[in-house]
Amino acid sequence: ARLVVLVSGAGTNLQALLDACADPAYGAQVVAVGADRPGIAGLDRAERAGLPTFVAQVGDFPSRAAWDEALTALVAEHEPDLVVSAGFMKILGPRFLDRFTVVNTHPALLPAFPGAHAVRDALAYGVKVTGCTVHFVDAGVDTGPIIAQETVKVGWHDDEESLHEKIKQVERRLFIDVIGRLARNGWTHRDERHVSMKCSV
Ligand code: GRF
Repeated sequence: ARLVVLVSGAGTNLQALLDACADPAYGAQVVAVGADRPGIAGLDRAERAGLPTFVAQVGDFPSRAAWDEALTALVAEHEPDLVVSAGFMKILGPRFLDRFTVVNTHPALLPAFPGAHAVRDALAYGVKVTGCTVHFVDAGVDTGPIIAQETVKVGWHDDEESLHEKIKQVERRLFIDVIGRLARNGWTHRDERHVSMKCSV
């Protein structure tokens, strides 16, 4: 399966995916990496891997709709079977979601703590268990059908940084596992709430 990966930051999930794709048995290849901002480590990782990259910044377009259209066209050039949002911090638009199947990874146990500050919000609430979620993307903020989740215990001494690092270690493993299953087995239930496909873990 051909994957286009979208990133906004460090790109450690992207790196894990690139490493996994080095094994032909994994069944997927990253064909391009896109970002919503320039100068991020995620883009450097892609360039080091010799992959084409592109940037579409919301602020460079007259409207959100124009950005949606441009991003859709940039991704479409690479003809992906699946788009992977790996720490991409923008809400994807209707045109994009109409065209592509998108999988996202989120550092909390959805539907708890959606949004951009999931780890901080979970800590502030005082939960003792949190985790990560891999899900299909729909028009809402972290609301799409859940594919897989894994838990992480919150230590009494954890701060946002240490907890996010713990989550990211579990998250990378889960994410790689799910993307590989989707790539090898396909998917049929992306619009249904209960994803009980061959890729469920
Ligand atoms: C991940 O925890 C992801 O779930 C969140 O941001 C982090 C991205 O990390 N939205 P990286 O850029 O893959 O290192």
